[in-house]
Order: sequence, then C-alpha cells, then structure tokens
Amino acid sequence: ETRFTLGELRKKYQSSKPITAVTAYDYPSAKQVDSAGIDVVLVGDSAAMVVHGHETTLPITLNDMITHTKAVKRAVQRAMVVSDLPFGSYEESTDYAVRSALMLIKEGLADAVKLEGAIEPRLRVVRAIKNAGIPVMGHVGLTPQSVNVLGGFKPQGQKAVDAMQLVEHAISLEDAGCFAIVIECVPEAVASAITRVINIPTIGIGAGQHTSGQILVYHDLLGLTEHPHHSNVAPKFCKQYAQLGMVARSALCSFKAEVENKIFPGAAFSPYTMQQDELQHFA
Ligand code: KIV
Ligand code: NA
Repeated sequence: ETRFTLGELRKKYQSSKPITAVTAYDYPSAKQVDSAGIDVVLVGDSAAMVVHGHETTLPITLNDMITHTKAVKRAVQRAMVVSDLPFGSYEESTDYAVRSALMLIKEGLADAVKLEGAIEPRLRVVRAIKNAGIPVMGHVGLTPQSVNVLGGFKPQGQKAVDAMQLVEHAISLEDAGCFAIVIECVPEAVASAITRVINIPTIGIGAGQHTSGQILVYHDLLGLTEHPHHSNVAPKFCKQYAQLGMVARSALCSFKAEVENKIFPGAAFSPYTMQQDELQHFA
C-alpha cells in the first residue's frame, strides 16, 4: 500500500473525506493503528501520561520522544508519522527549535512534527522549522504543555472573546505554514468556525463533529486508562471502543490463580522433553 503523504492528506481534505488519527508510542500500538488503516499516527507527548505515568505532559524529554518515534516508525508502513516536540524543546530560541525538530526527523525518522501555541515567538518557530524542510502541524485550544498557565486541563474558547482569539490563532498558524491543526477541547461552534475559515485540515479532539478529522489517544480509545490524570476513566469526549484494560486485568488474575493452584503450566504447556536414554543417564 502507498504511503499516506502530505499529498494524500490534501486530496482527502479537498474531497471532504474525514481524516483519521490515533496516537501510538511503541511498536505494537503503532502496528495496530497502521494496520487498521488510520491515516496519521501521532507520537504524542501524551506518552508522558499514558505510558510514563506522569501527571502532565511536561516531564517528557526530546530523547524520550525520539525513542518512542523510532519504535513507532519500525512498525508503520502506510500512515503519516507526526511527532510532538516536547515541552522545553522549542521555546527558548528558533535555532534550538529547528535543531529539536531535525532530531525527531533524522533520529526518530518522523515525517512531520507538531508543536503547541500560536502567538509569537511560536509562529516564527513554525516558519523556521518549515523552512528547514519539515512539515509542521499546529495545536490550539487546550494545549496541555501550558497547563500551568491555563490553570488546569479544561475546555477553551467558551467565551466569545476567547473563541475569536482561537480563530485568530488558527489563521496565524495557517499563515505561518502549518499543514494541519489539532483543535483540542473547544466548543463545537468554535472548531466549526475555524474549519470553515482556514484552508488546511483541522483534526479535532473534544472539538465536536465539524472538523476535517478526528484524533483520539490510543489508551483512551481502547479503554487502557491506567494513567494518573484520567484516574481510570476516559475523558468525556472520548468514546471507548473497547475495554482492553479490563481484559488485561482479568487475564493477569487468571494467570496468578492458575500458578498458585498449580494448574499452569501443566502438561499442556511443558513442551520440552528428553529422549528416554538421556533421561536414564540424567535421573
Ligand atoms: O499528545 C497527544 O496525544 C496529543 C493529541 C491529544 C492531539 O497532542
Ligand atoms: Na501532545
């Protein structure tokens, strides 16, 4: 199957076909997402929370993101792989930001990068990374790396003035050269307005029905919600398409019970034998 390139993304957007995106952080999750035919695999810095167990996305490092991206790339055959620039890897200077993005591409082998925010100096950073030859995805609304200034993980743009600002942010990101924009946790009307006024795809999460595409976090979608922030329930906007956490828990309890009751491995799972004459010498 042919790779899902920027060209394919544009074609899908222009023909108004919904774009699908899911996060992945390692080989098995990426294999699942790619073989399901999802268009975009996001190596999200949500890994900090869903994989590493942190309370926020802030602690994950560029090296962590490179390691996750490498594993994901080994698994993916078709999807576009986008990697998050983590907190601390693109704020202090444009040069530093370009170097960080280059590392995700050269070492991680990502196809594109994503960063959060839409006011200067961020727009300059978007332009510089794009000028270095790297496609950039934007991210507006709830931008989790700003959790401490936003005052928590909460919906954005619910007041008209804030909503208008979000539309401006999205326009600025398009002008700066982003090829798509994630819109997170905003009212449907706001995401819808952004989608109407800009000419690049919007990928929504908790942003209603009228974006160009949808993204969910792998662990939330599959009901593997054993991470601190969500305290074992998926966020309100997330539909759980399976309860894999429950399936895993029950399998692990069965293993424990069978070992303790000497049922496992039993004869059925003790495959290695010795020839009778060898056994005689040994026993
Ligand atoms: O890190 C992440 O998973 C994300 C998505 C929620 C868009 O940025
Ligand atoms: Na992210």
